[in-house]
Amino acid sequence: MHCAEGPTTLAGTQIVRLGGHFVEPLVGLHVAALAGDVLPALGPAFLRRYYAAVLRTDSQAVLGAVRAGDLLGFCQLAMAPMSISAVLASAPLSVLSILRLGLLHPKMLRRGLAMATRPEPVRAMPEIAFIAVGVRFQRGGIGRALASAATAMAAERGVAEICTKTSNEAARALYERQFGARVVATRSAAGRTYWHLAWRTGAPEGAHHVAA
Ligand SMILES: CC(C)(COP(=O)(O)OP(=O)(O)OC[C@H]1O[C@@H](n2cnc3c(N)ncnc32)[C@H](O)[C@@H]1OP(=O)(O)O)[C@@H](O)C(=O)NCCC(=O)NCCS
Repeated sequence: MHCAEGPTTLAGTQIVRLGGHFVEPLVGLHVAALAGDVLPALGPAFLRRYYAAVLRTDSQAVLGAVRAGDLLGFCQLAMAPMSISAVLASAPLSVLSILRLGLLHPKMLRRGLAMATRPEPVRAMPEIAFIAVGVRFQRGGIGRALASAATAMAAERGVAEICTKTSNEAARALYERQFGARVVATRSAAGRTYWHLAWRTGAPEGAHHVAA
């Protein structure tokens, strides 16, 4: 499965919860839309293990924008943290992924280690862990539809407030304009600044809140 040619509109596109057979399209889209991210730099075999684990974990929901069977964009809603180190530890050859990252992208390894080892500036869950839309389909409303569906899913589960962290200005603008998200923290890791954003889902006051 691959990203299809097509107009950047929502016509005919459905937002659905993805199952295990979407691992390969998810890997392809993640690599294409988040090329400068740490996870793609660990290699496609690692990303395959990561999404296979995410799709079978109850606390994770991956929503996809699907048209005619093709995945145009996706959004991972993490109701609880997804441990990347556990995914790495589950495969004996993971050490090769880390060596590859250190050799080919040393700055990214430093960034990944900084993100993984430093305490989070906010204790917040659920979180939009990743959102990505295929380059040819961006600016057509798909990112907004995915983020809205993830926010609605959190609200249905009784969560009053959710969060994300991003270094992407387009994503920050999306959350700020669509949901009135506020920056609750910023932090830098190996030359990149990440904004931690939080917004209300519309659900009544509940147990889950973002603490700044
Ligand atoms: C962020 C991203 C998911 C947005 O998806 P999209 O389908 O293009 O977004 P939409 O068309 O739904 O736009 C929604 C809003 O986002 C903001 N936005 C989207 N692209 C933007 C851009 N290039 N510049 C500034 N704002 C932008 C705007 O506020 C826009 O609303 P508007 O069209 O009314 O101005 C997409 O740009 C992407 O995949 N980027 C690469 C992956 C990434 O960095 N993800 C975030 C970290 S996990």
